[in-house]
Amino acid sequence: MSWFVRGKSGRRATLIGLLAVVAVMLTLVSYSVTLYRLFCEATGAFGTTQRVAANASAATGRRLTVLFDTSVAPNLPWRFVPMQRKIELRAGRSALVFFEAENLSDAEIVGHATFNVTPEKAGVFFKKIECFCFTEERLAAHAKVQMPVEFFVDPAIGRDPNTADIDQITLSYTFFRSARPDGAADLARFANAPPDAAAGEQLFAEQCAGCHALDTARIGPPLGHLIGRRAGSVPGYPYSPALVQSGIVWSEATLTSWLAGPQAMVPGALMPMAVPEVAARRDIVAYLEKVAAQASAGQAPAAPARPPG
Ligand code: HEC
Repeated sequence: MSWFVRGKSGRRATLIGLLAVVAVMLTLVSYSVTLYRLFCEATGAFGTTQRVAANASAATGRRLTVLFDTSVAPNLPWRFVPMQRKIELRAGRSALVFFEAENLSDAEIVGHATFNVTPEKAGVFFKKIECFCFTEERLAAHAKVQMPVEFFVDPAIGRDPNTADIDQITLSYTFFRSARPDGAADLARFANAPPDAAAGEQLFAEQCAGCHALDTARIGPPLGHLIGRRAGSVPGYPYSPALVQSGIVWSEATLTSWLAGPQAMVPGALMPMAVPEVAARRDIVAYLEKVAAQASAGQAPAAPARPPG
């Protein structure tokens, strides 16, 4: 303990040194959440998922089930739920899923979502292209939004002996009240008007009817009884093998991602167009859902809506 016997100036130098160490530690602590997140994102440790700009991988035959799970921190008065409990997809294929958030309070609040996947070792292969979890997010009082997440599972998951046995992945999100609300993005960007089936009917006439009718095959298959039907299943229509083998069942979610990019969803599919605008997709899907509901209620698609009651 030589510093006890050193002179006054030696003790001061030691004291300054110790204070510097404390300052460095405090700095590290205050940045550690960021450092931790950067570390996790770079390594995929603890089931952290990876962020990428685009999906450059080809779909493989490997099928996976992805389940969705949400929770909200106790001090955040939001409702936050997945809009689909699970989806099936092939490794390498992009999927678009939605989560709904609603601010139940009378005040605007900024939230931040954390996420992880289980099993944790699947984290490095789980790649997100679009996610509300990338930024702090502001939600106005009593506002409700449907937030998209676009992701794919890297086909390398099937080649790594450590993960070759995984066929089910759970993606979990927790929303917290943000500690750094400044500069938050506004979730109002996802608050489109509710889907409008009448507008969808108009869009269908403009963008789809050149190739599709509701009850007969044209260049494309008939779309009248679409919801709940397996993709590529209308007898006699010459589908691409890719669509027939896709295993897709048409629902709001699958139809939305098909319209966002048929070849991205099913490489080898033959539909040569997409609907890039989110609102237009929702309206067209709402129209096809309405047509299918009327068809299964035994009404002709053109019949007027049933009177209430
Ligand atoms: C230029 C022609 C063309 C246009 C325009 C077009 N489609 Fe298609 N669509 C096709 C073809 C061809 C297929 C068959 C794809 C295959 O077999 O891979 C198809 C398949 C589909 C399927 C799969 C049906 C099934 O039975 O599995 C859906 C759903 C669909 N189209 C919806 C739409 C919607 C909605 C629009 C308008 C936004 C649209 N399509 C516009 C040509 C078109």
